[in-house]
Amino acid sequence: MKILANNCIAKDTYEMILDAQEIKKIKAGQFMHLKSGREDLILRRPISIASYNEKELNLVYKVIGEGTKTMARFKPGEEVDALGPLGNGFDLLDVEEVLIVGGGMGVAPLYPLGKELTQKKIEVTFVLGFKTAEMAYYIEKFQALGEVIVTTDDGSLGIFGNVGTVVDELGTFDAIYACGPWPLLYGLQVKFDGHPHLYVSLEERMACGIGACYACDTKDKKHRICTEGPVFNIKEVEL
Ligand code: FES
Repeated sequence: MKILANNCIAKDTYEMILDAQEIKKIKAGQFMHLKSGREDLILRRPISIASYNEKELNLVYKVIGEGTKTMARFKPGEEVDALGPLGNGFDLLDVEEVLIVGGGMGVAPLYPLGKELTQKKIEVTFVLGFKTAEMAYYIEKFQALGEVIVTTDDGSLGIFGNVGTVVDELGTFDAIYACGPWPLLYGLQVKFDGHPHLYVSLEERMACGIGACYACDTKDKKHRICTEGPVFNIKEVEL
């Protein structure tokens, strides 16, 4: 796919915009599987789709290893070997009040979800957690959709602490959608124990991305995250 832009949007965080004119259908919560561009790095990297329209696809990724470091050097006009959109994505429920909780890189796939829910006139509260202010991204985009509560681990932006501190103070919602590190998801599972509509998008290392290698099994070994996920009702999986 042709790269239209590849910019640093926060500390170690990049947004790559791809020409998406050939992609027919995209669903919030799906991901793209990208080759880094370095011949010796064979495995693709699963990257969240952070927004899309009929022309462009925005991906947000964190530079953490050699592969993503190489990806960060892509220039507009170059091509990236991309597979996708992959995975099942979020199902939109016909409800009134929704809570969306994201942490770190897990914030990115929740933006298109929030956009689609608010377009359906569903009231959405966003709780977004980052390590520090310099690692925060997309805050203004979320604020254009609804109420946004930001937390940072060091208190440099928003509320000091993690998202759990905030979520514990909130009431209940018709549905909860979340993506982020394991402690965040586990905290939600405890807080909303037995809730019928708590959906989590799981982050996992992948190899094939298309259900063939079983490298991305859930902890209970019952599901492949790349194909049956990454979004699950929390009742279906063991965290
Ligand atoms: Fe191969 Fe999921 S990455 S089955």
